[in-house]
Amino acid sequence: MKTKLTTLAFIFLTLIWTSCSDSDNDEITPDPPPTSGDVTYTNSIKSIVSGNCLSCHGSSPTNGAPMSLTTYTMVKDAALNRGLITLVENGTMPKDGSLSTAQKKAFSDWKSDGYLE
Ligand code: HEC
Repeated sequence: MKTKLTTLAFIFLTLIWTSCSDSDNDEITPDPPPTSGDVTYTNSIKSIVSGNCLSCHGSSPTNGAPMSLTTYTMVKDAALNRGLITLVENGTMPKDGSLSTAQKKAFSDWKSDGYLE
């Protein structure tokens, strides 16, 4: 009796498993994870901003800076709505022009890679 039940349960579970694995054929394409070459906020932009922008664009902005740049969302927002990438590329920000060519390029690449976090 017990064996029969176990067998039935096994067949039942096998059927469920089979029908589930059929649906694996549906093409679900997840967002591709960033490839190692992509510039992301976390791997690159964050530390450049910390070292070169937060003295003015900190959580309470100082020296007349109009906004904070302390989080991914804030930096992305400034890139989309305040011309951050252009100001960095043309050396307007930071005002003392202290960013290296590689650091400026990181901002350009961050934009072309799609502002990845
Ligand atoms: C020495 C202080 C200081 C530093 C450092 C600084 N900023 Fe600024 N930032 C300002 C001030 C002040 C303004 C206001 C506009 C002006 O005076 O040009 C400004 C304006 C901006 C704006 C335009 C905001 C708007 O809506 O017009 C952006 C974008 C910006 N900064 C980004 C950056 C980035 C990115 C860095 C670092 C790479 C940086 N800033 C470093 C002081 C600073």
